[in-house]
Amino acid sequence: MTTSFEAFLKQHDEEAWSAALTTLLRSIHEVDRNATQIWFSFYPLSLFQALEQAEDPETLSQRLLMQGNYRLKDQIDSSHTFLYGHRYWPEVKTAVQKHAREFSGTASLSDQVVSVAQQVAKQLKVDPSLVIGITAVAFMTIRQAGLAAVEAAPGKMLIDKKYARKSPAEVLRDRAVDDSQGFFSFLKTVDKKWTVTYDENDDRARYRMNHMQDLAWGAADDRSRNWREVDPRRIEGPIPVECRSASCGTCWVGVLGGAEKLTDVAAREGKKIKEFGYVDTAESKPLIRLACQAQALGAVSIVIPPWNGVFGKYLKRMKEDV
Ligand code: FES
Repeated sequence: MTTSFEAFLKQHDEEAWSAALTTLLRSIHEVDRNATQIWFSFYPLSLFQALEQAEDPETLSQRLLMQGNYRLKDQIDSSHTFLYGHRYWPEVKTAVQKHAREFSGTASLSDQVVSVAQQVAKQLKVDPSLVIGITAVAFMTIRQAGLAAVEAAPGKMLIDKKYARKSPAEVLRDRAVDDSQGFFSFLKTVDKKWTVTYDENDDRARYRMNHMQDLAWGAADDRSRNWREVDPRRIEGPIPVECRSASCGTCWVGVLGGAEKLTDVAAREGKKIKEFGYVDTAESKPLIRLACQAQALGAVSIVIPPWNGVFGKYLKRMKEDV
């Protein structure tokens, strides 16, 4: 049975969530501002609704060329490990569940997120700005997975304590570090190397690449693991790739840190990423990029989503038909 809290969440469409997120962003700590936006791009409500309303979701997912793990209900505890706030997930999950069960309020979506985050922050004695992003994630997870499924999930913090102990300042400092190129680096042009971090909670999760190489090309040299075993979409290196020419949408990534150190979105990348459905923006350095197109001009920290698809045109047509 749908609870009144779930019914409240359902009253909000993609635009309403997006407006709430825009309001919340001002109060989210810098360490999670990009991560929260990336998470909401990785789990778009409109795509979830299209699949939910489809007569045959399986056939639709094939038509939209969906590959990988796109269902939030299968990754309730794990979809957000790249948020700093993930370390507070057990407490946030408990507080949001309580809020949902006792729900009777008329406050706006964003005010409810802030209110729950403030309670958790008080309990943990941390700044509320560190908890708001992960609380918004918990709300959307209930929207897509349902309250019962969220309650049934273990609610574990999944990153190693070694990383969980880092302060926001340390994480931000790590993201800002550019690789030293040694003495006379100013004389070097072609042989500069940059580090790409693709999981901030794993010291091994990084590869080196040449200046002005695209992110996917650089990743292909990383043979540190059997990538197909980790994810069958990863045919070489940690980033899934197929076409390498902005045609398939397999290689999308979120940029946690260093978006300004990637080349501007060129016309083809901008057009195709919108068609795929990942992001619709005129920004020259957005937080969502195609790894086969974005070239590195410095060290960056990225997140690799667990799925890919081609759904932009389908969702646009659905919206026009309403
Ligand atoms: S590998 Fe196909 S779009 Fe990048």
